[in-house]
Amino acid sequence: MNTPARAAQPIGIFDSGIGGATVLRELHLLLPHEDILFLADQANVPYGPRATNELRALSAANTYWLRAHGAKIIVVACNTASAAALQWLRAEFPALSFVGMVPAVKPAAAQTHSGVVGVLATPATLQGELLDEVVLRWAGGTTVVRQGCPGLVEQIEAGAFDSPTTLEMLKEFLQPLLAAGADTIVLGCTHYPFVAPQIQQLAGPQVQLIDAAPAVARQTLRVLAEHGLVQPHTERRGEITYATTGSPAAMARLIAQLGLPPGRVIHAST
Ligand code: DGL
Repeated sequence: MNTPARAAQPIGIFDSGIGGATVLRELHLLLPHEDILFLADQANVPYGPRATNELRALSAANTYWLRAHGAKIIVVACNTASAAALQWLRAEFPALSFVGMVPAVKPAAAQTHSGVVGVLATPATLQGELLDEVVLRWAGGTTVVRQGCPGLVEQIEAGAFDSPTTLEMLKEFLQPLLAAGADTIVLGCTHYPFVAPQIQQLAGPQVQLIDAAPAVARQTLRVLAEHGLVQPHTERRGEITYATTGSPAAMARLIAQLGLPPGRVIHAST
């Protein structure tokens, strides 16, 4: 396929669930002319408790599906899959370009005044080498307190952003970070920005929350530009397709509840 024809193909994004839409909305803001094909593997959510081999197999299945549906680039909008599979995907699919999530420890370490940064993430992300690498590389002199959030992704998938159970969970997860003096908290899972207002409310206004999604959108633009794959600006707005391996009706409800950009919702068999 020639480059202009490839440039007209959609940007592919995948996540275990609705979390990837926090990246999708930033991409759509930055690149409103691009078509976006978002695959949420909701039949297999959550990814957080899964083993590396399983995460690689699921990430490969998502990549095959997006490639078969014409994706010109793959954005791994999932910290868990990025930690377990990003380097591996690049080796397995050398003809494809991938952009992945890295916990935003670098900007957090640059911003903290207290010298203590908290990271909220899934168990698999906390166990992965990627987090250790970024901490080693960017957080010298900063104390990084890591907190797993088991169960939180399930609450967000259920649309229970403000439920007493969710608020109790958040209180429990934030307590060790605040007790350690964290003034900057990294949202190390793409689902968590959907409960950022609740986290901010519980943590207090002096705490800064950091979401990597805008930086990942900018990085996607850089990679597209390097490969001559940016869709030229026209009158036409980019179309969004939300594909789920779970229930399209449940996905459509979440899209409406979260005020996400409108789009077609379809079922995917990966
Ligand atoms: N949204 C994902 C992440 O960024 C996956 C969460 C999960 O499925 O456990 O880690």
